[in-house]
Order: sequence, then C-alpha cells, then structure tokens
Amino acid sequence: MGHACVFGLGWGDEGKGKVVDLLCPAFDYVVRFNGGANAGHTVCVGDRRFALHLLPAGILHPSVTGVIGAGVVVDSAKLIEELDGLIERGIDPGGRLKISDRAHLVLPYHKIEDQLSEKAALGKKIGTTARGIGPCYADKMRRTWAIRFADLLHDSTLIDRVVRIVEQKRKMFIALYGEDGGLDEVAIAEDLRRAKNRLASSICDTTLLLHIANQDGRKILFEGANGVLLDVDHGTYPFVTSSSTGPHGIGVGSGVPSHWVGRRIGAAKAYATRVGSGPFMTELSDTTGDRIRDAGHEFGTTTGRPRRCGWFDAVACRYAAQVAGLTDIALLHLDTLSGFDEVGLCTAYRVGDQTLRTIPAGITTCEQIKPLVEFLPGWSEDVQEVRVFADLPKNARDYVERIETLVGSPVSLIGVGPKRSQTIIRGDLKSMVGDIEIAAQI
Ligand code: IMP
Repeated sequence: MGHACVFGLGWGDEGKGKVVDLLCPAFDYVVRFNGGANAGHTVCVGDRRFALHLLPAGILHPSVTGVIGAGVVVDSAKLIEELDGLIERGIDPGGRLKISDRAHLVLPYHKIEDQLSEKAALGKKIGTTARGIGPCYADKMRRTWAIRFADLLHDSTLIDRVVRIVEQKRKMFIALYGEDGGLDEVAIAEDLRRAKNRLASSICDTTLLLHIANQDGRKILFEGANGVLLDVDHGTYPFVTSSSTGPHGIGVGSGVPSHWVGRRIGAAKAYATRVGSGPFMTELSDTTGDRIRDAGHEFGTTTGRPRRCGWFDAVACRYAAQVAGLTDIALLHLDTLSGFDEVGLCTAYRVGDQTLRTIPAGITTCEQIKPLVEFLPGWSEDVQEVRVFADLPKNARDYVERIETLVGSPVSLIGVGPKRSQTIIRGDLKSMVGDIEIAAQI
C-alpha cells in the first residue's frame, strides 16, 4: 500500500521532525496517532526554524493534509497558538488540518493535576513535561470524565458536564494535595467555546477519511511522537509517557490497521539522550556528556530542559527495533560526534555477574545496569557538507556500519546537520525522498 511510519527508537527527541519533513513530498497525508503537546518537532526550512508540538510536521508542505488522529490528546489552546504562529509566518494550514472527532481534549485541570502530582510525588516523580498528558489519558480510560472533540460539536450539555467534572477534580486535588491549583471553571468553559469556534471546521471522522484516502490510492505517512523507550507498555515503565509510541500504536491511534504500514523508519541519534527521570543505561554524567550536549544543542524543544546525554545504546535500540518491526534506521546528528577521539557503543548490559542483551522489565534491575561499551576510533572532519555515504570519513562509515550490525537494520538516512539539505540518503529510500534542494524552497 506504500504507507510508512516515522517514529523514535529512543526516549524522544531523536529528530523525527526532520525525517518526516524530508519524506513529505512522497505522501498525501501525515498522521499523528499518539501523544500530545509533550512532543516537540523542530524542522529547519532554509534559515527558518519551526518548533511544532501538536501539528503534524508535514503541515509545512502545501500538498499535505495533516491529521490529528483519535489517539492524540489535544490541548486546544496550544493547538490554536501553534496555528496562529504558523499563519503569522505565512503558512496557513486552512482546510489541510483534520482533527479526529474521537480525539480527547487536554483541559487546564489535566495540566494542574500533572503539576500537583509531580510536586507531591506520591508515587515516583516521572519528570513529565507538565502538559497534562498522563491525567488526560487516565481520564480517557476512566471514561466518565473524558471530553472528546465530538462532544465539543454535538453535546449541548458539555459546559454543565465540565463544571461538574471541575467540582469533582477540586475535591480530589484538595484531598490529595491540599490545594486546588487555581482551578477556574469559567476560564475552562471559555477555552471550550474558543476551541469550538476556531477548530469546528477541522473536526471530522478521520478514520473514514483515511480509509477513503487508502481506497483512492493516496499515500499516508504516520508520525509517531515521543519514542519506543517511552511507550506505556514497552518502555522503561513507569518512567514513560502514557501512549503507544511506536507503529503498534497506529491501529489504536488512527483507526487504520497497523499492517497497512510496511515501511517503518525508526529515528535514532548517533548517541543517546533522555529528558526527565528514569534509567538511562549509557548516560555520561561527566565532561564527555557535557560535550555531546553542547555540540548537539541538547535542550528540550518543549520544555527547554537540558537533555541527559550518553553513548549510543545498541541494546536498547535493538529492543525498540524488535517491538516496532523496524525496517530502516534514520541516524541523526552524526555531525555532533565529529572531533571525538573515540566514540562509544553499548553492546550489552552487566547486572552483577550477569550479562543482559535486552532491556529488563524491572526498573530496579534497569537502575543497576552497567553498560559494556565498545570504543571505535573517532573522526575529526566536519561532515556537514557530505551528501554521499562513501564521502564520509572511514571511521564515521565504520561507526554507522557497526550500528547496522548491532541493531540488525540498515541505516537508510543519515543526518549530518540540522538543515533539510544536510542529509545522506541510502538505498531505495532515495526513490521515496524527493529532491531535497527543491523541497528546501518551501
Ligand atoms: P509526559 O509525556 O509529559 O507525561 O512525560 C513522561 C516522560 O516522557 C517524561 O520523562 C518526559 O520528559 C518524557 N517525554 C514525553 N514526551 C517526550 C518527547 O517528545 N521527547 C522527550 N521526552 C518526552
């Protein structure tokens, strides 16, 4: 069917936005199927830098219809802010944005709950993005407290219902946290009215839309948010987000069967990063980690937090590849490693006298892991202007090929700089990616 998915192989922030952006010319629809405004995609077009959170990265392309699927949790105020930001910069998505009537709304009380629960840390402090993601998904599962876009359009009692929910939330917050966090039902009702006025024309049955698109031979690109290691079932639980972040989430989050998607392109950086709390098996809490952070500008798109940095973890990446049914690796930020005397790759974990070749489920075991790191000679050359794999320094090529061997999938795309044009495409992915320089004119 020719549909594809781009998703993260790590803990988010792998550079998926750039990959989606490059593939867009070959696709008619780009679909977000999970997460919410916790995600942050940075796309550089020419000298312009776009930071998107809820809008699919594909929306920057005038020929693409951007879809926010049923599995996404949408902060409507943030979405409107993002739309306004694009319009100010001359990009009006207009009728090209479609929002599933089955998607849920993140409301201010979700964000308050996220902050209060993190502050109180009654359980483990997750280090969330404070965007209300966990509380919104929890309400979705709890059902009676959840609000969907269909309700915004069709439920004439919605405002009354929300006022009642706020009353319940207030009781709950005071009981658990000793304060109501500034809950304001009038402001929330106003937010909902604004969301209806502004977004109503974009809300529709996107499941039907995608099935019709498929019948008509249109090509669909699914855009995963966050990363497989943050997956609610398969990630480093409980230090994860609350959705299904890999291609397995497509069925749940968009209403089309996951098996439609043959090409599953997983994005990974040439090293590893993580924001928030939780195990990070190859973390470098030393000057080498600081050097990677500075060279790679590793600060969060969504929260601005400095990212924790470490060596590439081939064990975690292979695990994510297995969960996701990976077909291709998109290896980003190779240029960041230029100038290191040697570059490390984690090939196995040690816990006590045991060697592990996959990520264990138990968080206590994860926290005891000592990585076994193999070092390869580094390269000093700046690689940002390289466009063909064979022109990379030999040590950089050896590094990429070692990753392919350890993970068991081909590296089909290599990022050598932030710009669209600073990319090496390999193998048959070349036929899917249009002319990069022409795309850069958009
Ligand atoms: P939440 O998704 O805001 O609940 O945060 C849960 C965990 O996932 C925290 O450690 C966040 O920092 C992390 N997280 C969520 N989304 C992203 C992302 O897009 N990039 C990086 N980390 C993320």
